[in-house]
Amino acid sequence: MNQGTCLQDLPVDLKPERLPHHVAVIMDGNGRWAKDRGLPRIMGHRRGVEALKDLLRCCRDWGIEALTAYAFSSENWGRPQEEVNFLMTLFERVLRQELREMMAEDVQIRFAGNLNSLPLSLQAEIKHSMEMTRQNQGIKFTVATNYGGRQEIIQACQAIATQVQKGLLKPEEINEAIFEKYLYTAGISHPDLLIRTSGEMRISNFLLWQIAYSEIYVTETFWPDFNRPEFHRALYAYQQRERRFGKI
Ligand code: IPE
Ligand code: IPE
Ligand code: MG
Repeated sequence: MNQGTCLQDLPVDLKPERLPHHVAVIMDGNGRWAKDRGLPRIMGHRRGVEALKDLLRCCRDWGIEALTAYAFSSENWGRPQEEVNFLMTLFERVLRQELREMMAEDVQIRFAGNLNSLPLSLQAEIKHSMEMTRQNQGIKFTVATNYGGRQEIIQACQAIATQVQKGLLKPEEINEAIFEKYLYTAGISHPDLLIRTSGEMRISNFLLWQIAYSEIYVTETFWPDFNRPEFHRALYAYQQRERRFGKI
């Protein structure tokens, strides 16, 4: 348990000793949330940010050690330019605005994805927020931005192949532990629970390696409406599961 976390708000039907250490979320349904209200899609993304801020705080309050959120996939570049631009600007603004709060709440922010092809001003904000929060000891918050699971695995293979080529590593020495060192999520435990909102029963190229044994929870709720009671339901469902990891 993180030092200084306060479990007083944990719902009584949740067992603190059986909480997931790491929760990952595929934040889906912003566009449909907005469409249902006759609003432009970007309003859904705006509200989606609020839902993520609330979830981060809730995880911290309830003693969850890591949260990873899928903010932008490597496939999302295929959306209309206007929406992509809006999202990039939104990420940058939110990062700038939330840094002070993250410092106050001892959040360590990280990013997973191919950051080099993001707008330079966003890259600068990302770098700054990671540097500023590096020493923080509270929740590890990873934002998957321009993230693709297949791409992550390929870049790990390239980096490992380079090590082999330099003679620093033998092919037969490559194992799961070494491979994981080259993933964006190096040093973070695998997600115990993967939540997807908006009812879609797919992974959409998220954390392909890391979710090998994650428990999957799908809710019909659109992301902007995902709140504490919803998260409580997901955690309750998780605690009813029996994780066997291939054993009996
Ligand atoms: C998820 O919501 C946010 C991002 C992918 C950036 P969507 O924008 O995919 O919303 P829907 O799925 O179209 O409703
Ligand atoms: C997954 O949602 C990506 C993010 C939540 C960032 P998408 O809306 O892009 O997924 P698909 O297209 O429905 O698979
Ligand atoms: Mg979607």
